[in-house]
Amino acid sequence: MDLFEHQAKELFADYGVPVPAGKVARTAEEAREAAAGFAATGHPRVVVKAQVKTGGRGKAGGVRVADGPDQAQVIAGQILGMEIKGHLVRSVLVEEASEIAQEYYLSFLVDRAGRQFLSICSVQGGMEIEEVARTRPDAVARVPVSPLTGVDRALAQQIVTAGGLPEQARDGAAELAERLWAVFTDEDATLVEVNPMILTTDGRVVALDGKVTLDDNAAFRQEHGRFADPEAADPLEARARARHLNYVKLDGQVGIIGNGAGLVMSTLDVVAYAGEEFGGIRPANFLDIGGGASAEVMASGLEIVLSDPSVRAVLVNVFGGITSCDAVASGIVSAIGMLAGRGEPARHPIVVRLDGNNAAQGRRILDEANIAVVEQAATMDEAARRAAELASLAARGA
Ligand SMILES: Nc1ncnc2c1ncn2[C@@H]1O[C@H](COP(=O)(O)OP(=O)(O)OP(=O)(O)O)[C@@H](O)[C@H]1O
Ligand SMILES: [Mg+2]
Repeated sequence: MDLFEHQAKELFADYGVPVPAGKVARTAEEAREAAAGFAATGHPRVVVKAQVKTGGRGKAGGVRVADGPDQAQVIAGQILGMEIKGHLVRSVLVEEASEIAQEYYLSFLVDRAGRQFLSICSVQGGMEIEEVARTRPDAVARVPVSPLTGVDRALAQQIVTAGGLPEQARDGAAELAERLWAVFTDEDATLVEVNPMILTTDGRVVALDGKVTLDDNAAFRQEHGRFADPEAADPLEARARARHLNYVKLDGQVGIIGNGAGLVMSTLDVVAYAGEEFGGIRPANFLDIGGGASAEVMASGLEIVLSDPSVRAVLVNVFGGITSCDAVASGIVSAIGMLAGRGEPARHPIVVRLDGNNAAQGRRILDEANIAVVEQAATMDEAARRAAELASLAARGA
């Protein structure tokens, strides 16, 4: 899960990483009130920042300075509702403007290839670090961090020195780095990035921006629910998650159900390939119902997939393993029965391809059930082609 800048900064503040005072506003009026609050404490100059989970906000006009509450209101009115790289701006962060002497870059991330953690630090912060790394690789330090020993003050000093930070910033930056490392490990993040980390004109080192990616696999031992963003979540994905289904919404017309992530991934490819022949028919979702696909799980899966309004046909692609094809076929039959019983009968064609353990018995069960919307295909390619064809017929008929 990626965090908004204001959420990242809340976390930073919990760990003592210095951040500017700020307040989130969802309307221009709220932005005025926030700015008025800062003005009352002697800080009339504020920065109004679009809260979107994408980079390059500054360049897109989503980060602007305001001199007082009136201007903050006007600017917030312009930024709210903007679209930045396809992300709608629903809120802004109004924060005290800092007096910047220099802008640096600092991050911690997982270095999978190196099987360790990595710190990246540069005296050239503020702009895109990829660009700096390309044009001035000497200005970007990459310092490995062992998961066994982590970052103590000595390593933090090494990191900021390697990044080329000037003497007067090093102590503050090292302290910030040590605390940022605590955020990274204690919160189970895969990335924490501060760009820019600034040196203020009065000599303090402050995190002026924050980007954090949390590892969802660690959700069970964290309290990150407060960071969830229900407005941005796809409603089908939210429903699927509530049923513990491994579902990702895509933008095509063929609903996909399979067992095993690898099989489902390749099913997406095969459907997209077959769909080219039918004017660009594409998969509508990823759904892996896993190894032990019971009738209930199959029913949940079918229900989610069929309730997607862009779905025109469904492809069930199952390779029987520990859960054999006859069990899966019975699951499909009772799932369709369950849906009909609930008054939500399957209205779209469902192409089923069964292979593997007890495939013949599975096919027989489906044949004997004689369900109007279900048809079988012998191979994965055939099934994908037929599902794409049926989806394109339905799309044209609609
Ligand atoms: N509180 C602040 N006070 C003064 N200047 C600020 C403040 N926040 C941001 N800025 C200035 O705006 C620039 C861009 O801000 P920021 O890094 O938050 O956004 P961005 O880099 O455009 O967004 P992203 O990192 O998502 O690409 C900073 O480099 C800094 O110069
Ligand atoms: Mg930035």
